[in-house]
Amino acid sequence: MVKICCIGAGYVGGPTMAVIALKCPAIEVVVVDISKPRVDAWNSDQLPIYEPGLDEVVKECRGRNLFFSTDVEKHVAEADIIFVSVNTPTKTRGLGAGKAADLTYWESAARMIADVSKSDKIVVEKSTVPVKTAEAIEKILTHNSKGINYQILSNPEFLAEGTAIEDLFKPDRVLIGGRETPEGKKAVQALKEVYAHWVPEDRIITTNLWSAELSKLAANAFLAQRISSVNAISALCEATGANVSEVAYAVGKDTRIGPKFLNASVGFGGSCFQKDILNLVYICECNGLPEVANYWKQVIKINDYQKSRFVNRVVASMFNTVSGKKIAVLGFAFKKDTGDTRETPAIDVCHGLLGDKAQISIYDPQVTEDQIQRDLSMAKFDWDHPRHLQPTSPTAFKQVSVVWDAYEATKGAHGLCILTEWDEFKTLDYQRIFDNMQKPAFVFDGRNVVDPEKLREIGFIVYSIGKPLDAWLKDMPAVA
Ligand code: NAI
Repeated sequence: MVKICCIGAGYVGGPTMAVIALKCPAIEVVVVDISKPRVDAWNSDQLPIYEPGLDEVVKECRGRNLFFSTDVEKHVAEADIIFVSVNTPTKTRGLGAGKAADLTYWESAARMIADVSKSDKIVVEKSTVPVKTAEAIEKILTHNSKGINYQILSNPEFLAEGTAIEDLFKPDRVLIGGRETPEGKKAVQALKEVYAHWVPEDRIITTNLWSAELSKLAANAFLAQRISSVNAISALCEATGANVSEVAYAVGKDTRIGPKFLNASVGFGGSCFQKDILNLVYICECNGLPEVANYWKQVIKINDYQKSRFVNRVVASMFNTVSGKKIAVLGFAFKKDTGDTRETPAIDVCHGLLGDKAQISIYDPQVTEDQIQRDLSMAKFDWDHPRHLQPTSPTAFKQVSVVWDAYEATKGAHGLCILTEWDEFKTLDYQRIFDNMQKPAFVFDGRNVVDPEKLREIGFIVYSIGKPLDAWLKDMPAVA
């Protein structure tokens, strides 16, 4: 029986390994993590992450050929294939701070593999890493190798949170990079055989190591760039009376462009896009390519601009101040169908509103009060380090309350901001919400979830990203 061990039971390690276990009943898969609470949660009925379809997959395989453990060294020693899916956050200090990937967690995992291994191993980079990381890992592993043969593969993960299980069941592609030596090719083949249990062969791409590592950074940069492109156009739509949904539809009809990932919004979030672009920027700078670095930097600048533009719009519309006013925030996760709040635009929007002394009442179906308070009190980039290593008792923001119902959040509010596109926000009783709000009642839709015309009929003043503005908003001071 082939034995797989995955180091890191996070958003990637957990779902990915669960699906491998489901599709390959003859393979034993153990997911290990240094965090006992996280492993305990994987072994309980309350999994540590929310992901549609995940519970069912885990229930079917756990205890059969899928195991979660904190006994990291034992399972690493026993495995034939070791996936490393630890976090690779942005460095907060020292050389490359604010841009370069922090490989501390990766390096310590690699050193541990070198220490405990007694047989040949295939080590798979599942985390997103800077191009050329495999070379460094190889050095760590082989420096004290005791005659053990290690093959490093790059197998970046392309799943998206919220649709992880669907993406893992039917990936657009699986990418495997390896050394172009006979041993390297054999290792690539071994990993290919794992995926071939359910992924059609023509979707399994094999490349050299550096192409695989770079492809993941490039893919995330392209995806984020699409969002920043449509968001940049959304600002121009508001200034000219064009409608960003119509523009995006017309643009996306071009088969060279395609319709997906062209929704204007308050901005992208999540643990990957910003971190991976910053990493790409850093790598370009290190390779003497400042023009290329600046090109990608702009994607993040537009994203930041979009968030501050939204806050400015809220404040400017409400007579240029939200001081002491209750603002309801519906949605805090960075996208629907996940409880993940890493780099969610809601953090920046809330900070902006708090900066103008608003009272904020937040509702998100999947995010706890503790998490929200922690996110709001955290320094930039600290969010990307493991959750369980973060302080548990942050200074609570007294102007922020977290409630478990959209109606409670909006009761007595002057304005409401929709910051996550949860489906349930489409079908709320907006008449009831309107009746219980202060007047004039404002809706600021950062995800284009509601029909602005219907809400205007109720009596709301509505701002939807990239849509023609209400007369009210046009009369307010210009938003920069
Ligand atoms: P995460 O923070 O949810 O999980 C990482 C886990 O690794 C944590 O539970 C942590 O305790 C554990 N860990 C850290 N050092 C360890 C060590 N030495 N031994 C054992 N466990 C250790 O991170 P997530 O989101 O799963 O991301 C992992 C990697 O995958 C990152 O490089 C990320 O960029 C990449 N990725 C993430 C995607 C996402 O949607 N979250 C999608 C594709 C790639």
